[in-house]
Amino acid sequence: MRQDIYINDQLNFDNVVQAVKPAAGCLANGGLVAFPTETVYGLGANALDPQAVLKIFEAKGRPADNPLIIHVSSPGQIEPLVGEVPAAAHDLIKAFWPGPLTLILPKSKLVPDEVTAGGPTVAIRMPNHPVALALISVSGKPIAAPSANLSGRPSPTTAEHVRQDLDNNLDYLIDAGSTSIGLESTVLDLTTEIPTVLRLGAISAEQIKSIIGQAETLKHTDLAQPVSSPGLKYRHYAPKAKVLIVPLITDEMVSKYQAQGLKVATIALKTESPNSSADFSSVFATPEGMAQNLYATLRQADELNVDIIVAEAVSLPGVSQAVMDRLKRASED
Ligand code: TXA
Ligand code: MG
Repeated sequence: MRQDIYINDQLNFDNVVQAVKPAAGCLANGGLVAFPTETVYGLGANALDPQAVLKIFEAKGRPADNPLIIHVSSPGQIEPLVGEVPAAAHDLIKAFWPGPLTLILPKSKLVPDEVTAGGPTVAIRMPNHPVALALISVSGKPIAAPSANLSGRPSPTTAEHVRQDLDNNLDYLIDAGSTSIGLESTVLDLTTEIPTVLRLGAISAEQIKSIIGQAETLKHTDLAQPVSSPGLKYRHYAPKAKVLIVPLITDEMVSKYQAQGLKVATIALKTESPNSSADFSSVFATPEGMAQNLYATLRQADELNVDIIVAEAVSLPGVSQAVMDRLKRASED
């Protein structure tokens, strides 16, 4: 049976530590706990306990060859997990941790193959959320945690999304409201000759370059090449509706689909275009707002049995690139 712990944002850190204690004890004893981070909700298990880690794959229906990110509550906690911490990692940690940047480094023997899908590298990040940090530090363990959704569903940005997907297939769910960023962390591979961004997120390649001088971004089309981040070969975001990305949404476009008997949703930044004729329309004031609500919008479109989601392309720098990346993936068959 799942137990829910509610944390409101009025609590100070000591109160949060008290509130998460039962869940932290459960993690240390091999249990599964869903918890909020600043990006999305994660489904955590003790990363050093192979049996506990296997339960994550079972609960999510996740393919065993897709490795997990280990979450730590302090930078020093990575030392025993990795072979060596290169200077670039030190600099990036100083600049961006705690925060939405996952680093891929060579793994140490301590990290079980179940976490890395048998691979020689390990993904690690320190989340910037008081509940996640309290939970990890009280558990006393590094915590392996993928997004707490069923495989193939949008990542959960509220506790309710976790309930919808995982129901009772976990021991504790810590509910602290909506996550602030709403998209998964940037994943940066530091084991390649030139550091490579494998997944876009709130920390941009430009920000990374400004710290370590170089970084390249794995192009969507490069995925036809041997897969360096196994997760990339799966279609992550799979709304029932077809997703179409257009430069500008027009009423004519929306009416054309509706005339074919299709239920239409639109996603856009606030623009001059009216978009009022869609069956369901999400308009956001900022790219940050769009990122924060994107997955909730995709889930809602599914619930409303929308046939086609028309999204307006955004070409601003920053997090909107990550938003477009997720929409592009959702648009692929
Ligand atoms: O923001 C996030 O990163 C969230 C929260 C919960 O921290 N976690 C998350 O985990 O998105 P997940 O499992 O849904 O996505 C992890 C991604 C996958 O694409 C996986 O293939 C990749 O990171 N990954 C993990 N370990 C890797 C490794 N050793 N080498 C390459 N890619 C790796
Ligand atoms: Mg995921």
